[in-house]
Amino acid sequence: MQNKKRMPLARTALALAVLAAPALAAEPDGETIIRNNCLACHSETGDAEAPFSRISEQRKTPEGWLMTINRMQELRGAQISTEDKRALVQYLADNQGLAPQESESYRYLLEQDTNLVETGVEEGLGQMCARCHSAARFSLQRRTEDEWKRLVEFHMGQFPTIELHSLARDRAWYEIASNETAVELGQKFPLITPEWNSWKAAPKADLTGRWRVLGYVPGKGEFTAWMNASKSETGYQLQLEGQYTDGTQLAGRGTARVYTGYEWRASIEIDGVKMRQVMAANDEGSAMEGRMFSTEAREIGGELMAVRDRGEAEVVAVMPSHLRLGESAELTIVGQHLDGDVSLGEGVEIEKVIERDGDSIRVLAKASGSAGARTVSVGDASRDQALAVYDSLARVEVSPANALSRIGGNGGEMAKMRTVYRAVGYAAGADGEAGTDDDLRLGYMPATWSIAPADEVAAHDKDEKYAGMIDAAGIFTPGDAGPNPERKMSANNVGRLKVVASVSDGGSEVSGEGSLLVAPQDFVRRVLD
Ligand code: HEC
Ligand code: HEC
Repeated sequence: MQNKKRMPLARTALALAVLAAPALAAEPDGETIIRNNCLACHSETGDAEAPFSRISEQRKTPEGWLMTINRMQELRGAQISTEDKRALVQYLADNQGLAPQESESYRYLLEQDTNLVETGVEEGLGQMCARCHSAARFSLQRRTEDEWKRLVEFHMGQFPTIELHSLARDRAWYEIASNETAVELGQKFPLITPEWNSWKAAPKADLTGRWRVLGYVPGKGEFTAWMNASKSETGYQLQLEGQYTDGTQLAGRGTARVYTGYEWRASIEIDGVKMRQVMAANDEGSAMEGRMFSTEAREIGGELMAVRDRGEAEVVAVMPSHLRLGESAELTIVGQHLDGDVSLGEGVEIEKVIERDGDSIRVLAKASGSAGARTVSVGDASRDQALAVYDSLARVEVSPANALSRIGGNGGEMAKMRTVYRAVGYAAGADGEAGTDDDLRLGYMPATWSIAPADEVAAHDKDEKYAGMIDAAGIFTPGDAGPNPERKMSANNVGRLKVVASVSDGGSEVSGEGSLLVAPQDFVRRVLD
């Protein structure tokens, strides 16, 4: 049916579509699907608490369940229609999912942030497990000790060379994994937890309604919008309308599914570009937070937040989120049902209200007094720390600090993997020293972007000339794949670069640096990671 080489891309697209797609009619029952599709190899245990072997004694995210079912198809030959797979992921994530507290520290994996470097991974687990995949992969699962042991068996059976790798051949990997790691994971991430018991019993919020949305699309900028979610058979129909900060309009339509009562997964086409939203709703269903990214290129994305219209006045954000002492600047208060007196906090004078309605208020403001975070209010509605008043920009952080791009192109078999950069500004805080705990985060700032070789070797190889280019919007596009006859030392266009953001502040320039590895294509066949 398909050209083999194209399979991975096709599968990834399908996998993404599965999680957000609506079904046309009421979905079949999950247990029936398991009986029809899984019992050729799995068995019914007769235990009402855990009716299906292997399947009943683990809990995971919708992406986690999708990964397992994909493996059943890919490696085990299980047969299941796309419709049944959708319904089964829904059923399993709803009944054997994770409580919000259980997923909150690892949302980056779900949000598919490709450039996050995990921190705080326990050394043992890092060496035994998180050397091949993220620690979030297993931290987003809950199993009985026995099921953690079976997972080790699966790894050993499926990847027999696992014991020969670095960080395994120096130890008895299999023995340690079965007798120590699995036991530890059984205690750390057990199947039964108070969090899940109470979340499973809790009423789940209906997310129907109007949402005030704030987001970022690389190359286009920050936007504010209204998103309307109306109920459909299996989730929500979505309509989105808004504008970027430069005034350009945006509009989109799509569908969403909610798993486990709070895991929002939407597919939405915005001005012809297919985007995906991954957010977590809070317990009351009044706000959601996460990331939106291009379905085709998940690195092209940005933070996304949504606040539900509950008929009450609410200040959602101030854009931009910073104001320099002594300078006049335009600020927009974004919210809903905004009515009444506007205050930008102590010492911030509103010189002029340029434009206002219930959704937003654009003002010209000037700050005096001391540096620090301000509470912004309109009538009875307010938001703490919505505006950072600062004396001078002390440092600029390049985000992501450590990134990976991949060369590609040349015929389109493997697309280039870009990196999207943003600059985050900080003031020194009360101690006057940059880089300390009391630094005041100012938020994203407009920057001028450039690249430079990472070190002498990179400079000698002219990596800055060949490995790629960064545009004014902070989007780095790597070079073409394949041999480059102009380069003697390295056959293709890989390289190591510094990415520099320069932000102007009161007549001077402050810059920050990130580290970027421009790597070869990712030849690993991937279903969905
Ligand atoms: C053709 C045989 C076969 C079919 C059909 C099959 N499985 Fe499996 N399943 C396996 C095997 C073999 C394993 C153990 C190895 C592994 O985990 O891949 C397994 C393991 C599992 C596990 C444990 C995975 C883990 O991470 O520990 C789950 C959950 C599971 N299957 C779910 C399903 C579901 C749901 C279906 C039906 C949609 C299904 N299986 C259909 C053969 C099958
Ligand atoms: C040699 C590399 C390697 C090591 C080491 C490794 N894994 Fe994996 N792991 C994989 C691969 C590859 C997959 C994906 C298998 C698939 O779905 O086809 C995987 C899948 C998983 C999954 C998802 C299974 C599912 O279907 O839900 C979990 C959870 C996991 N690993 C946990 C661990 C733990 C815990 C350890 C340490 C004891 C570990 N891994 C060590 C390579 C590794």
